[in-house]
Amino acid sequence: IITLILTIVFGYLLGSLSFSYIIAKKIKKVDIRQHGSGNAGATNTLRVLGIGPAIAVLALDVLKGIIAVLIAALIAPENSAGVFPALTGLAAILGHNWPIYYGFRGGKGVATTIGVLATLVFFPALWAGIIAILSIVFTKYVSLGSLLFAILTPMFVFVLNAYYDYPSMYLYLSSIIALLSIWRHRTNISRLLTGTESKIGKKSTIES
Ligand code: G3P
Repeated sequence: IITLILTIVFGYLLGSLSFSYIIAKKIKKVDIRQHGSGNAGATNTLRVLGIGPAIAVLALDVLKGIIAVLIAALIAPENSAGVFPALTGLAAILGHNWPIYYGFRGGKGVATTIGVLATLVFFPALWAGIIAILSIVFTKYVSLGSLLFAILTPMFVFVLNAYYDYPSMYLYLSSIIALLSIWRHRTNISRLLTGTESKIGKKSTIES
């Protein structure tokens, strides 16, 4: 249990490294959370800093989800039924959303969720990801795609479980992540419902 707790703490500390915050500070000397949507994430990096930094943020935030899960899986004792990687992955997402290093004001966890779920439940995440990307291409709403990804992955885990026989922890984890993502996107959801959500492709300017 001590090992499990330490691994979860490691996941949280790793997840707390907010790459949108770090990169925006480094290249523009700005706090990403005071620009665009105010969210510390790849989408807002695209809005505020452009495509190059956004891709770097997306890749790094995805990577920390992957690393958290892989390290937990390596440390996990035999027969621990996916508990280590699932809880450590969740901790990384919580770290991203509420980072200890930046006053607990982080992002919405989407990139880190992609890393965690693609590592744990690759095919469900892949199918959900394809639908999410198509929805973003057609609607230009990243938040809608993010929500579809988070909500569809547990459904695909449930459906594809007959083939892959996932530990039940993975179904619980992906369901919890979906609820967490809905909660983090609650302002996006109300903007989507009122038609006032911002679409990608519009750059927001930094007044200096
Ligand atoms: O990755 C978060 C995305 O779904 C929405 O971000 O900045 O438009 O609130 P944002």
